[in-house]
Amino acid sequence: MPLVAPHDILARAFREHWALGAFNTSNLEVTQAIAWALREARSPGIIQTSEGSIAYAGLLVLWDMIRDIAESVDVPIILHLDHGKSLEVVRQCIEAGYGSVMIDGSALALPDNIALTKRVVDVAHEQGVWVEGEVGAVLGAEGLREGSVIVEESQLTDPDDAVKFVRETGVDALAVSVGTLHGAFRGEERIRFERLQAIHEHVLVPLVLHGGSGLPREEIRQAVPLGIAKINIDTELREAFHDTIAGHREDAKGHSIDPRKILTPVREAVQKIVAEKAQLFGSAGKA
Ligand code: G3H
Ligand code: ZN
Repeated sequence: MPLVAPHDILARAFREHWALGAFNTSNLEVTQAIAWALREARSPGIIQTSEGSIAYAGLLVLWDMIRDIAESVDVPIILHLDHGKSLEVVRQCIEAGYGSVMIDGSALALPDNIALTKRVVDVAHEQGVWVEGEVGAVLGAEGLREGSVIVEESQLTDPDDAVKFVRETGVDALAVSVGTLHGAFRGEERIRFERLQAIHEHVLVPLVLHGGSGLPREEIRQAVPLGIAKINIDTELREAFHDTIAGHREDAKGHSIDPRKILTPVREAVQKIVAEKAQLFGSAGKA
């Protein structure tokens, strides 16, 4: 079906305590894998592209490909800009036809983050486009102390900042730093539930969990009723892609140089991860 706007589906997920998976792509096979897994699971979902993916593949190429693939399946798919850093890239995505964008001003001081996000909200809302902002930074390994996967208190989202940010910017959803990290630190990342609960009690919009890869299943199950309506997954898809290609090279010993033969099992491996996430997040069966 045609790409859909996120407003109604995210509001429903938030209200009913389940979450939409937001899966990153930059190529054909990963996009097909996401859409096909969602179709099999009867799940709505989000396909998202970062600035890096856009630089790699080209905005219009990605837009055309994702729109065509979404139209080929009969479940609702939203196209979202992930971690947009400037008003300019947001404008380009809106012009191309994205129904949903993230503006990530989390590296800025709070007043500057608010000012940038507010400008984006004004432009996006005029076109009916949904906006996610971020307060408190979700980092990767670069934000950690040597040998530690514990996010420092000072890096977590402050509930008062979150309230002020949402009130002053008018964002539709808020990405929060509550202990997760970009990258998959298997079994070692921990969500700080007291912090998540405190934010959820005071902020009325749906919350977004970045760094969803590698989180224990139980942590995700507990987080979703605390306002998490969107969960971002990138690294686990990359790992499935990488590991399947690496395995192929070892096995085939040069027998198959056809990209289609190499990438078919890769696509299947990515599809399997997306299917598992749709079950875990509770979005399966909701389309
Ligand atoms: O914005 C993308 C996600 O937050 C990716 O998180 O690296 O844990 O998959 P991940
Ligand atoms: Zn992220």
